[in-house]
Amino acid sequence: MRVSVLGYGTVGVGVCEMLEKAEGLELRKVLVRPGKADKPFKVTSIEEICADPETDAVVEVMGGVEPAFSFVSAALRAGKHAVTSNKALVAAHGPELARLAAEKGVGFLFSAACGGAVPFLHNLALAAESDRIVSVGGILNGTTNFMLDAMQRRGMDYADALKEAQSLGYAEADPTADVSGLDALRKIMLGCAVAYDKLPCEGFSLEGIESVTADDVQHFRAKGLVLRLLVSGGLNERGTLYAFVQPCLLPASSPEASVLKNFNMAKYRGENAGDILFIGQGAGRYPTASAVLRDLSDIAHGRREMMKSSCVRVAADNSAVEKRYYVRLDAALSDCLPFAEKEIDGALARGVTKAIPVTEMHAKAKMLRERGAAVFFAAMEE
Ligand SMILES: NC(=O)c1ccc[n+]([C@@H]2O[C@H](COP(=O)([O-])OP(=O)(O)OC[C@H]3O[C@@H](n4cnc5c(N)ncnc54)[C@H](OP(=O)(O)O)[C@@H]3O)[C@@H](O)[C@H]2O)c1
Repeated sequence: MRVSVLGYGTVGVGVCEMLEKAEGLELRKVLVRPGKADKPFKVTSIEEICADPETDAVVEVMGGVEPAFSFVSAALRAGKHAVTSNKALVAAHGPELARLAAEKGVGFLFSAACGGAVPFLHNLALAAESDRIVSVGGILNGTTNFMLDAMQRRGMDYADALKEAQSLGYAEADPTADVSGLDALRKIMLGCAVAYDKLPCEGFSLEGIESVTADDVQHFRAKGLVLRLLVSGGLNERGTLYAFVQPCLLPASSPEASVLKNFNMAKYRGENAGDILFIGQGAGRYPTASAVLRDLSDIAHGRREMMKSSCVRVAADNSAVEKRYYVRLDAALSDCLPFAEKEIDGALARGVTKAIPVTEMHAKAKMLRERGAAVFFAAMEE
């Protein structure tokens, strides 16, 4: 299969290098910005790639929603298969692209958009064909995992852990999408779409790691607990879909606690299969490029679909899932939450609530922060 690549950055260069060595796959053209076509195989117009009869598939690794959406749509309309590593694109326009690909009888796969090298979506799509998927989730952001692990095992504070993640290239200069949980949220949107044929696109409960302090982490360590940022998705008993991202406290013996540094751990629970876990590199040039090539190879073997063309957008419903929450906040405000147990330490209160809906905890934290309070919360994953 002959492949043209849209974008020649971190992942694009890795894909091109791997294509040069791959059996059965051949690099045709690379789309770069105007003025950057310094080699014969580099071109600056998507039309040239769409009109190229020797391009069978395009790989989109430019990032962002536009012009990625227009370019991938144009390639699909021209009868090319498409593979992307771009979670923002699939979260925004996955259903339209899946429908277009089905209409044209070509493939549209996006394994690398969720979990980098971790073969999560690939296997989830296969499992969803033969088992009922009870839940999807895990640790899907390597940057925050690196930071929480550094705070937990090396006693670093938040600012130093972030600085080290940036110096190692794990965190961007603007780390907001990672530390706010948005990056992980986009990935669970894709996981839900693959597992349930429903793309949650509003009603999320989203809490990142920005409020955690070194003191909090030391406190958990003393209790034998490990903090991780987990994503969760699944079907409620009422048939609606839940999808949320929040810090969680886990026993040190849990599989999540053993995921160190910038590794990811994606998992799904099948009604018959039980828990299936995948651990690996969630980002980086070659890990991500390896997932792109796996998708190309899947297409070459006739596998065309990861998100069904029938996939619909829905609102997430997180009101039916209840958790007990560890909360640290100003002691003066501690009556605002239904604590089952709490300790007052000077001006701070720390405690664990009764089981409350995910939506209620997120709404209470928002309300308290709007009143100027400093609040940290994490779900107790027992
Ligand atoms: N890096 C990772 O580890 C990783 C892991 C998983 C998924 N992803 C996803 O993969 C995608 C690419 O990430 P990346 O890290 O490779 O980004 P990157 O290093 O910024 O590379 C993107 C490349 O695309 C080029 N580009 C952007 N718009 C273009 C346009 N209109 N025409 C031609 N070229 C264009 C950029 O050119 P300029 O530099 O001139 O702007 C840049 O060379 C993103 O969606 C990202 O979320 C990345």
